[in-house]
Amino acid sequence: MLRFSFIRSATGLASTCSRRITTTTPTTTPSFSSSSLFLRTMATMKALVYEGPGKRSWKPVPKAEVLEPTDAVVKLTSTTICGTDLHILKGDVPSVTPGRILGHEGVGIVESVGSGVSAFKPGDRVLISCITACGKCLYCARNLQAHCLNGGWILGNDIDGTQAEYVRIPFADTSLYQAPKSLADESLLMLSDALPTGYEVGVQSAKIRPGESVAIVGAGPVGMAVLITAQFFSPATIIMIDTDDSRLAVAKKLGATHIINPSKLAASTTMMDTVTSIISEADIASGEVPNKNMTAKPGVDVAIECVGVPQTFATCQAIIAPGGRIANVGVHGTKVDLQLQELWIKNVTITTGLVSANTTAMLLQVLRGGKLKPESLITHRFKLDDIEKAYEIFGNAAREHAIKTYIEA
Ligand SMILES: NC(=O)c1ccc[n+]([C@@H]2O[C@H](COP(=O)([O-])OP(=O)(O)OC[C@H]3O[C@@H](n4cnc5c(N)ncnc54)[C@H](O)[C@@H]3O)[C@@H](O)[C@H]2O)c1
Ligand SMILES: [Zn+2]
Ligand SMILES: [Zn+2]
Repeated sequence: MLRFSFIRSATGLASTCSRRITTTTPTTTPSFSSSSLFLRTMATMKALVYEGPGKRSWKPVPKAEVLEPTDAVVKLTSTTICGTDLHILKGDVPSVTPGRILGHEGVGIVESVGSGVSAFKPGDRVLISCITACGKCLYCARNLQAHCLNGGWILGNDIDGTQAEYVRIPFADTSLYQAPKSLADESLLMLSDALPTGYEVGVQSAKIRPGESVAIVGAGPVGMAVLITAQFFSPATIIMIDTDDSRLAVAKKLGATHIINPSKLAASTTMMDTVTSIISEADIASGEVPNKNMTAKPGVDVAIECVGVPQTFATCQAIIAPGGRIANVGVHGTKVDLQLQELWIKNVTITTGLVSANTTAMLLQVLRGGKLKPESLITHRFKLDDIEKAYEIFGNAAREHAIKTYIEA
């Protein structure tokens, strides 16, 4: 989602969006929060406010309200923190300006709706999508809601987000989902961003097929979402690659057939050797005498990058087999080398993308079926008042053995 902000800024879409928003009431907080007199005379709520690189605070701000007929205001019952929020706090996302309430994931109860909202009413329990979709523009028509001309990733970016007691959701009819009673907030929260991202930008883009070998580089919430949803297609081998042993252990429980910690590989061994020996081991274990004509060339059929650094994209390029697919999910902030001189002859496909969250309804149905338990990614729980503590823990995920936080409002 970080990537998207660069695209938006580059094309001027962000300014289009903010013009639309500022014609009514400012949606950032500094001008209000600096005036305690103003706050005393209007409805307030508490929210986690970005105050410039490295600075954030949990403080009173004007309460979210309906500004457009298509808006809904949702009272959060839970929210969480994404790796992208950490990128924002580092100052990596220029579209996020001081005064912005962070967060693009959440579950809550509709408090009020504008006159143009027909699918939701006050009292409805809803899942908030990280992607706001107008449902009417060119890109929404192309099912590429990530690039919606009136929305896209705007929550906690161009407009105030979900790490607050209340949030305004534009285009509520096409950006909220009715929350099934049978699903707890802990499961639903994973549908705001992590699961659709892993499924759409990873699994769907890579076209995983039954029996294939898949490597997932990065075992954060997004890599884990790839791991969980890749199993819809029954790949024979799923190799999880990460430098964090505790995350690798969780990946094993969630269905990884093999794990690799690259920082522990012997100096004499390449990642390709390791991956290839895993796949050939699987052949031997199945009891078959390898038929040379039917044995695949070294490498994996699918490699999915879920970190966002040059080194891990290099790993994907190094381990891909002929005919393979590399799906890049990670957000890259620096230039990355493409080894086209090696890849062209291998008939490799490379895909990239920002989540459109157009599979959320389908994923909701899968969750209702009860076989998927994405809540197992939640390692830490907090009250909304303690969100600053949640940021400290999530910001030191490896040390704290954290994967996903659950923040109850
Ligand atoms: N494309 C999209 O629409 C989209 C949406 C959401 C998030 N993202 C991006 O997806 C990526 C993953 O998100 P996340 O929340 O899971 O992040 P995360 O930071 O929690 O997880 C990244 C994992 O990569 C591992 N790692 C770091 N360096 C490594 C290396 N050299 N080799 C192997 N493993 C290494 C870390 O130990 C960590 O477990 C991020 O870049 C995020 O911004 C993309
Ligand atoms: Zn996110
Ligand atoms: Zn649109």
